[in-house]
Amino acid sequence: MHDLFRRSPHAVCFVACLFLTAMFAQAQRGASIRFDDASRTFRIDGGDVSYALGINNRNELQPIYWGARLGASDGFPQPHEVHEVASFDLTTTVTPQEFPGWGSVFYVEPALKITFPDGNRDLVLQYASHHIDGNTLTVRLKDIERDVFVDLRYEMDAATGVLGRSATIENQTKEPLVVERAAAATWTLPHGTDYTLDYLTGRWGGEFQLQQEKIVPGARVLESRRGSTGHQNNPWFAVERAHTGEQDAGEVWFGALAWSGSWRITAEMDQRQTIRITGGYNPFDFDYKLNPGEKLNTPVFYGGYSPDGIGGASRILERFELTRILPQRPKPKPRPVLYNSWEATEFRVDEAGQTALAEKAAAIGVERFVMDDGWFGQRKDDHAGLGDWYVNQQKFPHGLKPLIDRVHALGMDFGLWVEPEMVNPDSDLYRKHPDWVLNFTGRPRTEGRNQLVLNLARPDVRDYVFGFLDKLVTENQIAFLKWDYNRNWSEPGWPAVAPDEQKQVYVKYIQNLYGILRELRSKHPGLEIESCSGGGGRVDLGIMGLTDEFWTSDNTDPFDRLTIQDGFSYAYTPGVMMAWVTDSPNFMNRRVTSLEYRFLSSMQGSFGVGANLNNWQDADFATAKRLISEYKQIRETVQHGSLYRLISPRNGSEYSATQSVSPDRSQAAVFAFLHSSQFGYDYPRIYLRGLDPKAQYKVRWISEKPAAKLPETASGEYWMNVGIDLELKGDFQAAALRLDRVQ
Ligand code: GLA
Repeated sequence: MHDLFRRSPHAVCFVACLFLTAMFAQAQRGASIRFDDASRTFRIDGGDVSYALGINNRNELQPIYWGARLGASDGFPQPHEVHEVASFDLTTTVTPQEFPGWGSVFYVEPALKITFPDGNRDLVLQYASHHIDGNTLTVRLKDIERDVFVDLRYEMDAATGVLGRSATIENQTKEPLVVERAAAATWTLPHGTDYTLDYLTGRWGGEFQLQQEKIVPGARVLESRRGSTGHQNNPWFAVERAHTGEQDAGEVWFGALAWSGSWRITAEMDQRQTIRITGGYNPFDFDYKLNPGEKLNTPVFYGGYSPDGIGGASRILERFELTRILPQRPKPKPRPVLYNSWEATEFRVDEAGQTALAEKAAAIGVERFVMDDGWFGQRKDDHAGLGDWYVNQQKFPHGLKPLIDRVHALGMDFGLWVEPEMVNPDSDLYRKHPDWVLNFTGRPRTEGRNQLVLNLARPDVRDYVFGFLDKLVTENQIAFLKWDYNRNWSEPGWPAVAPDEQKQVYVKYIQNLYGILRELRSKHPGLEIESCSGGGGRVDLGIMGLTDEFWTSDNTDPFDRLTIQDGFSYAYTPGVMMAWVTDSPNFMNRRVTSLEYRFLSSMQGSFGVGANLNNWQDADFATAKRLISEYKQIRETVQHGSLYRLISPRNGSEYSATQSVSPDRSQAAVFAFLHSSQFGYDYPRIYLRGLDPKAQYKVRWISEKPAAKLPETASGEYWMNVGIDLELKGDFQAAALRLDRVQ
């Protein structure tokens, strides 16, 4: 550039102009929050999104706009109360509010409901003041009579336009009050009737099933009452306007609640066809007493918008997770290739057996060796040992050190399974502290997998759990913990505190869980953690801020996994989606698949091996070594790139295909699967997406045999328009290829 400057003043001007234009574009795309005094409206901009709210003539805070980013000088319609059309539709209930208290006349889902000690249950929140600090807006609401304050926080991410919303409820009255329900936010959609709600349901072994249904009058409740996130619903939603089934076109609004305890999201269309989505603490069995001067913070409810369909929505959310949520944000390290012993040995772990597996794992290119359940206390099966976190002397007579040293010598780091929040009644811990579990005095203590849940809300339990984990990680060179959680709550009592404080367990348990994770990470900065709950029972943006990856499902069947992984990817980045190659037939359904099929299924996420390597033949080791080396060359694209779902595996599809494109579009990885050919039909043509149209890309097959006749090199335009005709025939067939931009 220096030469250019010397040679021509015009060039200087040209470069400067380019620079200024780029700066301007950058500033345009950045975040800004403004308040307009005249119209009493707030405008929040970030990424390609604008969000507006305002104070109406009744002093309520009212949503105005949420959608594509508008011109800097555009104004908005002023907020105003909606006129009454019938005595059954009074204006207080039909006027949308940003954070409605339950009071006056109000029939839809409130964000906050309070009971005062005098029996008053009327709460009417109005604007009191606001404060703008960089990318954060705080709006203070107050009840019309009592000193109950609510601070609504809006934090805009400049790059993605994802807005984080949360509330703090503060009791400034002279007496205690009871919060009966507290949402993080209510999102209101533009008025219309052609909306489809997308959400995720599931069960153990069958998580992340995408559901899509038209929004009609009434409410659809997504929730967990289980004390933790749950397999059954996941705290994520998307709403598509004029849904066509096309992945990458159309308007989509989406949200994800950052909370790992009982939660609820209600998507509601009222009698005037206004759609509101309210999410936060689950009000079921919820009471939170706030003494004078005390506050309650809600979780954060993140929301975003994409004009590029549900595919675009998930790419925005995934970018946001990588750059703003994960502990290693803004640029998480690539996930190492992992080996895990669970399916190979279950509880039968010992020094010799694990060492033998570690040697074989290292030989195929594994970078992290993880010993699963069975190494501690008197753990022979799932009847005993949880809670006693000392190394089992029979299995590891010299402690863990010899195994860890061997793993290090083999060039891998070492990870260990723990289930810190649980206890078996057959354990020293339970014999000593039977009062440490969730329970109601004198009532049965229902066991699940022969275990009970420790009440982490108790300070002594919190200290015990932090203490043993800290000791374990301090005394051993542990790079990674697989943090498991294998049952949900039952009899969620907390007899040690006053009856009117016992239900705080729903909040304080999770706060302490987060506190332990935070403290552990800050004391051991290199430590990485996986959130596992019998597979994907604890996957949400709350725990994601404190852990590095998720165990997606205990179901490791590579075909079932295609649908589970597809669903997962709507809400969570493939960079945190652990996927292992395990043995065939699969333990879950006895399905038989080739090793290459299993590899290609797992290579679409964060890759691991969980097979019993003692049973492998030379050819298996050779396949594994080759494919792990291929994976390492595409893993940054898969883990940090943009995902395009080319063909969905859902609804019994015979075919499925995904494509990941690296952030700079220099590489793409394509995976395609065939369930079973029928009637001799050919594989549907795959059109690639997201490539640089003008760049040339060179093909390289990842699967052993080429599965199509392709030009060696062709433009992005070619791959996206001409596409690829795969020659896949038979049952459970798969192919994968990569494209690299030619310089
Ligand atoms: C859970 C996990 C498994 C394994 C077992 C160990 O089911 O999801 O991966 O760790 O616990 O008991």
